[in-house]
Amino acid sequence: MDKITVIGAGNVGATVANVIAHKDLAKDLILLDIKEGVAEGKALDIWQTSSINHFNTRVTGVTNNYLATKGSGIIVITSGLPRKPGMSRDDLIKTNANIVKDVTEKAIKYSPDAIIIVVSNPLDVMTYAAYKASNKPSHKVFGMAGILDTGRYRAFLSSALDVSPTDIHALLLGGHGNTMVPLPRYTSVNGIPVTQLLGKEELDKIVERTKMGGGELVNLMGTSAWYAPGAAAAQMVEAIVDDQNRIFPVCACLNGEYDEKGVYLGVPVKLGRHGIKEIIEIELDKNEKKLLKTSANAVRDVMKVLDDMKIF
Ligand code: LAC
Repeated sequence: MDKITVIGAGNVGATVANVIAHKDLAKDLILLDIKEGVAEGKALDIWQTSSINHFNTRVTGVTNNYLATKGSGIIVITSGLPRKPGMSRDDLIKTNANIVKDVTEKAIKYSPDAIIIVVSNPLDVMTYAAYKASNKPSHKVFGMAGILDTGRYRAFLSSALDVSPTDIHALLLGGHGNTMVPLPRYTSVNGIPVTQLLGKEELDKIVERTKMGGGELVNLMGTSAWYAPGAAAAQMVEAIVDDQNRIFPVCACLNGEYDEKGVYLGVPVKLGRHGIKEIIEIELDKNEKKLLKTSANAVRDVMKVLDDMKIF
């Protein structure tokens, strides 16, 4: 791809840029931030690893210069404040909604055809905000959460089973919050159902730890995570750039799928060059459906806070 833009040069944005560069996914990568010098510095630092790590992606940092992002095929939005201990992702809505609206409008002006990947929190509702601000079809505006959450789930399973994390395949539905729905019934170790390898009690513990996975890191570090979020967003970029048709849990706009309408929620999708090619509806049992409904309602509550802000 000719150009990719990452907006927000905080820990997550810089990590997304770093992984995209390492994978050589674009000729040019623009890292943009509002703080003078931060994006320039981090971009220069990443670019100075190019001869060591053997990549060609030219990484350039800019301060608020949207003209430099002109013609991007993908825009990754990471702007906004991160969580502090004691905060939920939803507590960030008031500050981050205006930021996401503002950067989306500015970026889309110069890259009207771009696919937008949102990483800012509260994720599901910020993705909805970018959708509203961009006026683009929803298959081109979606959010990163499911790859991160299944990444955590698979890491915990890998440790518990002492097997390679790459052999663990898993699916997860719902919002990026404590109501997310990991699905042990759809989790396997190279085809072997995980339910045959781990007892219910241990699996339940891993599911609970996954749901609180972001908070565990906030408590340890005093701010939210970046390595796994950054790698997860870059994996979505890779699926688009290489038109891979990979199936990932992605925060997508539902239009009747899973009996939900007009809400952004984590579901399995097929991801390729044009964005979301297809939302995949899997069979759910009664309990899984109930958990998904609870999660959708939790996202709707936060959507209401956004609607009440009347910024759209
Ligand atoms: C997390 C934040 C990025 O889950 O939402 O770590």
